Amino acid sequence: QQSSCAPRSSDLTIERANEFITQNKNNVKQTYRLKYHAMAPIGWINDPNGFIYFRGEYHLFYQYNPYSAVWDTMHWGHAKSKDLVHWEELPVALAPDQIYDTDGVFSGSAIEKDGKLYVMYTGNNPNGQVQCIAVSEDGIHFEKVSENPVLDASDLPSNAQPQDFRDPKVFKRGDLYYVVTVSKTVNETGQVLLYQSADLINWEFKSILLEGTKEQGIMWECPDLFELESKDVLILSAIQMARSGNDYHNIDSVIEFIGEVDWNEGKMKVESIKELDHGHDFYATQSLLDDKDRRIVIAWMNMWGRTFPTAILNQGWTGAMTLPRELHLKNGYLTQTPIAEIANALQHVTEFKDVTLIDQSGEFNQVAGEVGMLDLVVNLEEAKLFKIELRANENERTILSYDNESKELTIDRTNSGVYIAGGENPPVNARKIEVPQENNELSLQIFLDQSSLEIFVNGGLETLTTTIYPTEERSEIILFYSEGKTVIKSLKFSKI
Ligand code: FRU
Repeated sequence: QQSSCAPRSSDLTIERANEFITQNKNNVKQTYRLKYHAMAPIGWINDPNGFIYFRGEYHLFYQYNPYSAVWDTMHWGHAKSKDLVHWEELPVALAPDQIYDTDGVFSGSAIEKDGKLYVMYTGNNPNGQVQCIAVSEDGIHFEKVSENPVLDASDLPSNAQPQDFRDPKVFKRGDLYYVVTVSKTVNETGQVLLYQSADLINWEFKSILLEGTKEQGIMWECPDLFELESKDVLILSAIQMARSGNDYHNIDSVIEFIGEVDWNEGKMKVESIKELDHGHDFYATQSLLDDKDRRIVIAWMNMWGRTFPTAILNQGWTGAMTLPRELHLKNGYLTQTPIAEIANALQHVTEFKDVTLIDQSGEFNQVAGEVGMLDLVVNLEEAKLFKIELRANENERTILSYDNESKELTIDRTNSGVYIAGGENPPVNARKIEVPQENNELSLQIFLDQSSLEIFVNGGLETLTTTIYPTEERSEIILFYSEGKTVIKSLKFSKI
């Protein structure tokens, strides 16, 4: 791993960070840089923060160490976009320059009040984790308020540990502001806490919204609570969620809870629980509501505990965000569809119709591309197995296969390129999800970027998000195979 050269203590200022970025960002290696995903210009990023639609533009902040490609004392990086596809880099928004956040400006969220942009974040310091507010008139320069911290250990219920109290997601309901945060209980489980305020500065503990079980991880992170199509939705990230069948195979997982919040009691009654994405790299989600009333979610497209190829290979950067996705409910669970704006970026469409693949002899290899969108509908009535090899050549390939007996879709990155190790035990390189068919058909929308794959299955009923780092020069070929007979009813490849 690259060692960090971050300056320590109070010289971690915004000015210093911005100067470092300007002076060094041109040295970042381009090999694996993504073409249409939000990223930092240089250095390490993790969680999306402060994701908000503000004065006609989408703002995205993120957990940021500009000084090296590994995690270290956190700042908030900042970018904005008009269409959620093209991102404009902005100066670093927050630095760990106060006693209460000296060990890092950790994750948080944003809200508009009286025309100003407020952010609420976790100050990490040697005594524990506290919640803080910063305000901006122009949406770019922030001032931390003198009342900070606005929530500290004295605001915790008695079962909570003050060392793990973080990730405020703030929202308004009626005349009141609310915030959900997470904390670790004395039993080493996660819980979501609910606070309320009239002015964003003075907060009052309301309730424990939801308590996790032992199976649901040793700690929760990044809670997000919102209403969607008459249900209440809580999404959060769980550290060491226990595996169950095909679910929760990464060391940490994103869980959706669907149900109803009783706002008098401040309790959530959960009706259904599901893993939000079934790939290798999806964590720490955050959502916003925009002017078109769309609920849009974005996630960090990586996973804790992994070896990060771009850091190991001295590329000067690590980490990116997923494509923003629009959320809806179907049959009691969330669906995710890529934001509609991505359609404007699709070019040079290659199209095929009714391609029949019969056993191995039916290999189809007419499509090539490293960065683009593959959209296909296949009929599997007489198929045993259908397989796509992405970024393939003699030595490397990422395999997406559908087993028509078990009805499981598998993404396998064992031979994708640079090997990625992780904290998972046993270490699995394939991720699976059962996908029912409709009329013997399966539809797949696969977004390929220079080092990522995002697969939307059957209109977003399931998604699989995975990073890959092919090492060979020519790895743009896409191959289709079948055991039995598969009919590709329609196939489009668009460059992005
Ligand atoms: C989640 C997380 C948050 C924390 C941040 C620190 O990925 O661990 O809980 O605020 O990252 O960078």
